Amino acid sequence: MKGHIMLIGRPSDITASEITPATVFRKRRALIKAAGLGTMMAWSGLSLGEEPKTKIQDYSKSSYGQEEKLTSYRDITTYNNFYEFGTGKEQPAENVGQFKTTPWTVSIEGEVLKPRKLGIEELMKLAPLEERIYRMRCVEGWSMVIPWVGIPLSSLVKLAQPTGNAKFVELISAADPATMPGVRAPILDWPYVEALRLDEAMHSLTILAVGLYGEILPAQNGAPVRLVVPWKYGFKGGKSIVRIRFVEKMPQTTWMRAAPREYGFYANVNPTVDHPRWSQASERRIGGNVFSRRTPTLMFNGYADQVAQLYAGMDLRKHF
Ligand code: MTE
Repeated sequence: MKGHIMLIGRPSDITASEITPATVFRKRRALIKAAGLGTMMAWSGLSLGEEPKTKIQDYSKSSYGQEEKLTSYRDITTYNNFYEFGTGKEQPAENVGQFKTTPWTVSIEGEVLKPRKLGIEELMKLAPLEERIYRMRCVEGWSMVIPWVGIPLSSLVKLAQPTGNAKFVELISAADPATMPGVRAPILDWPYVEALRLDEAMHSLTILAVGLYGEILPAQNGAPVRLVVPWKYGFKGGKSIVRIRFVEKMPQTTWMRAAPREYGFYANVNPTVDHPRWSQASERRIGGNVFSRRTPTLMFNGYADQVAQLYAGMDLRKHF
C-alpha cells in the first residue's frame, strides 16, 4: 500500500514530487552514457530520455482549445498516474517496458444489440480521428493541457446499439500481472473500472483517445486506447481499455470501492466541493516551477457551457 497517493496523506501535488522526473532523467542519462548509447540516440534523432514515437496518419485538427498553452510532451509522458505500473508519478514511464499493446481488442458487451470484439485498428476507423486540445484536471490538484487524438465515444456507442435497459457504460482496463507490475500488488481492486452515465458517454466532448501530440499514445498514457472526459477529474479517464460494458445499474467504480467518502461516481470538477482532505478551489499547472502561482479551478473544468445541462436539478454536493 506504500505511496497510495489518492488514499493516504496529502495529494502528491503539494510535495516535492515534481522534482522526481528530473532525477529519473539524470539516472537514465547516466545509464545511457554508460552503455555508450548516446551517439546512437543522437543519430536516430531522439533526445535522451525519450522513447521512439510513431506518427498518426490522417487526423484533423479541431477548434477545441486552440487558445491554450500546451503542456510539454515530456511532462505529459513522464508525470503520470497509472497504478498498474506503480504509484509514483515517474513509475509508469519507467515500468511499461514489458507491456504489449499490439495486437489489442476491445470487447463490447452487455445491454447492446451488437456485442462484438473490435480490433484497435477497426476502433480507430469508427470516426475520423481528430485532435482535441483539452484542459485536464487531476483530483490531486494539478492540471495539464493535452492535445489528444481520438474519436468520440459516441461513435462506438452507436455501433454497439444499446438496448433500452442500458443506462451506464462501464470501461474496464487491462490487468495483466505478467506485464503490469502494479497489478501484482493489492494497491487497488483490479481491474481498474470507470463508468459514465449513457448521456455523458454520448456527449461530444467525451472521447476515446489513441494518441497525443499527433503520435500514437505512449503506454504510460493508456495505450492503445483510453477514455478522456475533460470536465471530470482525471481518474475517470480509464487507461488501456479492454472491455466496454453497457449496464442498467450504476457501476461501482474502482475509486468508489476504495474510498467511497472521497471519490464519487460523477467526479465532476467542482471548485466548491472540496475533497474531504484538501481543497479543490485551485490548481497548479504542471510545467511551472515550484513557485508558480496556483490558479482558480473552474466549474466543470471550464466546460460548463457545454455540460452543465447534463446535471440540471442535481445536488452536486450529494452527487460528487
Ligand atoms: N487508468 C488506469 N487503468 N489506472 C490508473 O491508475 N489513473 C487515473 C487515470 N486513469 C489511472 C487510470 C488518474 S488518477 C489520472 S489523473 C489519469 O489517468 C492520468 O492520466 P495521464 O497520466 O495520461 O495524465
